[in-house]
Amino acid sequence: MSDGDLLDRIRVSGDVPRHVAVIMDGNGRWARQRALPRHLGHREGMKAVREVIEGSVDVGIQVLTLFAFCTVKWRRPAQEVSALMSLLQLYARKERDELRRQGVEVHVLGELQRWDQATRRAVGTIVDGTRGGTALRLNLMISYGGREEIIRSVRELARRVAAGELAPEQVDEELFSSTLFTEGLPDPDLLIRTSGEYRISNFLLWQLAYTELFISPVLWPDFCRQHLFEAVLDFQGRERRFGRVGAP
Ligand code: IPE
Ligand code: MG
Repeated sequence: MSDGDLLDRIRVSGDVPRHVAVIMDGNGRWARQRALPRHLGHREGMKAVREVIEGSVDVGIQVLTLFAFCTVKWRRPAQEVSALMSLLQLYARKERDELRRQGVEVHVLGELQRWDQATRRAVGTIVDGTRGGTALRLNLMISYGGREEIIRSVRELARRVAAGELAPEQVDEELFSSTLFTEGLPDPDLLIRTSGEYRISNFLLWQLAYTELFISPVLWPDFCRQHLFEAVLDFQGRERRFGRVGAP
């Protein structure tokens, strides 16, 4: 089916997910299959990022959250880490104007203090340069870990309790959510993971509580908007009960 046909089907198939999260996986395997160095797999993955952003705008998704670099990736060889950093800088430089034109507002979330100056500067330009975009909010999760995010929130709340600003009884789901990186955003409706791995891998542990999961066998560099549309259609066919009993 063509992209246009898939989009038409999405339009008549009910609600589209407001927030889609993606674990982009399989760059290394894509490169290995072609006997290329891993960093070329990451580079090729940039194309898929573009596809998924454009596809999200077409579908009318409001928030797209991409898991670009998790905290454990710091354990990868220094050469790969620095290749990923340069790639992020390149991405920020190359894509900023196009993203702005498309109305994409970019947020970069995670433990940014671990990044070097040049990368932080590049990230700053893309964030500043796309501020106010209304077509899509794009969260690039970089140097992010779900457990670390929860610990960070717990520390913040504990600090407020210790300072006498907050009573322990006031800590509820809403308050807790407001201390996370995704503050103010709806939880993801749909999580897509590529490369056929059935794991959450420390991504958005709190926010994914009721999210529908879609595992695609496609390696990230090969992922295109058609694959996104198929995932959305699959999502539209699901019955979401949030713990309640469904219709008989
Ligand atoms: C995804 O691919 C990595 C990033 C988005 C940075 P991997 O590097 O995890 O590739 P595999 O899993 O080794 O194939
Ligand atoms: Mg991987």
